[in-house]
Amino acid sequence: MSTKTARVLVLMCSTRPGARGPAVGEWLIETIAPRAVELGVELVPVALGDLGLPFLDEEDPPASGVYRHEHTKRWSTMVDAADGFIAVTPEYNYGMPATFKNALDYLGREWAWKPMGFVSYGNTSAGTRSVQHAKQVVTTLRLVPLGATVALRIGDTMENGRLRPDAGRDATATGVLDELVRVAHALRPLREQARSRPGPLPGSYVRALTPDDASEVLVLQRCCWLEEALANDTLAIPALGESLEQVREWLATWHTTGLWRDGRLLGMVRARSVDGDWHVGRLGVVPDLRGRGVGRRLLREAEAAAEAGCRRIVLFTGAESQRNIRLYHAQGYRTESVDGATAFLTKPVPADGAVRVPAGEPAGLG
Ligand SMILES: Cc1cc2nc3c(=O)[nH]c(=O)nc-3n(C[C@H](O)[C@H](O)[C@H](O)COP(=O)(O)O)c2cc1C
Repeated sequence: MSTKTARVLVLMCSTRPGARGPAVGEWLIETIAPRAVELGVELVPVALGDLGLPFLDEEDPPASGVYRHEHTKRWSTMVDAADGFIAVTPEYNYGMPATFKNALDYLGREWAWKPMGFVSYGNTSAGTRSVQHAKQVVTTLRLVPLGATVALRIGDTMENGRLRPDAGRDATATGVLDELVRVAHALRPLREQARSRPGPLPGSYVRALTPDDASEVLVLQRCCWLEEALANDTLAIPALGESLEQVREWLATWHTTGLWRDGRLLGMVRARSVDGDWHVGRLGVVPDLRGRGVGRRLLREAEAAAEAGCRRIVLFTGAESQRNIRLYHAQGYRTESVDGATAFLTKPVPADGAVRVPAGEPAGLG
């Protein structure tokens, strides 16, 4: 799963020699490619016939995630890395092709919380019965089928194995991509939650922050460090004045952890090794969720990441930031010195180097 841009697999579901599927798939990709560039979407064509998937031959059920065969592992990696799918599917006997069903059946959680759009084709019903059939199956996998769709009646749309030009149809196909990307972004928090450690609040989760998260970090910093500025009567606080580019730069070099819920960044902390000390900083929690164990949990996340060989955990805070200082003292830190407006605190790294991070600590512990 990518972080900000989206990767969309275009699944060519028919596998028979001489199939019309490739012509439909080529038209689709050519048509939506310019919009994909605008949206920062990577389109990846995948012919199911090239995957070498026999009828499902794994011993363990897909929900176990235990795969013995190379073909399953390859397919799992491809689907896992995708943010959404467009299935280009014919209708066979009022339903989806067996190849498509088989490819879906192979995997489990790799599909979850990702949108699937459909481009169908067929004779009498333009493949719409195939799509109805597929929708019933894909929802079981927690794929989210789109409303936007393209349905092609072969007799009306194809000539000499190619699709006749049709600007209206092209616009509809672009609409499928637009909807797919919006739904993929909307579902991102659910995908992330399913793959991350739970946080201290119900529905929250913890994950590493990357430069792609810079805009959310910038907003959180400006919100959190304003109180620091007031408490310490100074605006000379880096977290308040940094530009988006500066935030992006430090996110690339610090080990930074964020707590998220429903796509909202609730808190963060960063850490890195400097001359044998593990420097922890930028611990911030949104104002409406303070006093619920979030700061303490994030602090422990940062401590647990201490690199081997670091002897002390060190942090700096405003000398007048009483709330922060109380939290740090309660977590075993000692104020070493106060230099003007800045307090310097330390705590030894535990002898075994391990700081336990609770899996799902209850909220409301202060
Ligand atoms: C096994 C099979 C079953 C089909 N069943 C249907 C059907 O139920 N409804 C329909 O409209 N067309 C049906 N068709 C016609 C297909 O929609 C048409 O042949 C289409 O080109 C198949 O896609 P493909 O060329 O990519 O394999 C069927 C074709 C095949 C090969």
